[in-house]
Amino acid sequence: MAKEIKTIAVLTSGGDAPGMNAAIRAVVRTAIYRGVKVKGVKKGYNGLLNEDIIDMEPRNVSDIIQRGGTVLGTARCLEFKKKEYQEKAAEICRKHGIDGIVVIGGDGSYRGAQALSRQGINAIGIPGTIDLDIACTEYTIGFDTAVNTAMEAIDKVKDTSSSHERCSIIEVMGRHAGYIALWCGVANGAEDILLPENYDYNEQEIINHIIESRKKGKIHHLIINAEGIGHSTSMAKRIEAATGIETRATILGYMQRGGSPTARDRYYASIMGSYAVDILLEGKTNRVVGYRYGEFTDFGIEEALQMQKDIDRYQYDVARILTI
Ligand code: ADP
Ligand code: F6P
Repeated sequence: MAKEIKTIAVLTSGGDAPGMNAAIRAVVRTAIYRGVKVKGVKKGYNGLLNEDIIDMEPRNVSDIIQRGGTVLGTARCLEFKKKEYQEKAAEICRKHGIDGIVVIGGDGSYRGAQALSRQGINAIGIPGTIDLDIACTEYTIGFDTAVNTAMEAIDKVKDTSSSHERCSIIEVMGRHAGYIALWCGVANGAEDILLPENYDYNEQEIINHIIESRKKGKIHHLIINAEGIGHSTSMAKRIEAATGIETRATILGYMQRGGSPTARDRYYASIMGSYAVDILLEGKTNRVVGYRYGEFTDFGIEEALQMQKDIDRYQYDVARILTI
């Protein structure tokens, strides 16, 4: 028989993402609506180990749905990979009467949730990362806001780049994943898109493309470069030297991770927060919430971590076709 859940906790872990607050709000209010107590754990697994735990009431999450970041704070906690700290965390949960926990974060954070689950604390993950790099779900909290923030910034750089007939390299976030770069590449009409998943470091090809585009009458050349490839400033210098065309690099950086979440991020985060509580109350554990084929669903963490996701070749090719 599934254990009765009387008190749950919620924490955010890993990189923050716009929309995490909407998820926290949904977890708190759904749990209270269902007659369950809720605690907020500050600063990820660090806060759990330090017993930085507060009671959450519906009014604690008033007026946060529109705010970027996470009101609970977040952190990376390397100690949590060790079994002794996972056991300690489970002990702390029991001490505070926490029967179940909702972890909002990326796949690293799910491994922490999996560890807690193994230690007897029911745990459910919610995908929170601007990178969109979680294979079991078509949506991750924060991606929509981040990609819109980046798109608006790139539009502005493109204006000045066109006026000066320059080439622009714009570096967007994504250390291992190129989804922000791909989406901006299409949405901003970039001539070249460099993704960590498939870039072959053939700079001569980019140089040839710039020269060809100029001959065809293009007055600017926009290159979206993902953070995982990096080196945008030195790349700009080499391209300028090889083409004779003024080239500038702009690194958008952390602005992409902040700001007020879009309607889509608020909506999906709210539904996922409620969904996580509801499956926790059904007695489920060691699972992660996802959105697939038009439906909210959930997967075992083990299975979710084994799934693979790659850049869609057709979508990548379309980006290039549309800039002829
Ligand atoms: P994300 O959740 O965004 O992928 P990280 O990979 O940095 O971010 O993971 C966030 C946190 O999750 C880590 O700092 C650590 O506390 C916890 N974590 C990551 N990997 C593991 C693991 N193998 N076992 C237990 N906890 C982990
Ligand atoms: O949140 C995702 C992300 O922006 C990745 O693209 C990047 O690899 C990472 O976070 C960098 O985060 P930090 O500098 O906070 O470790």
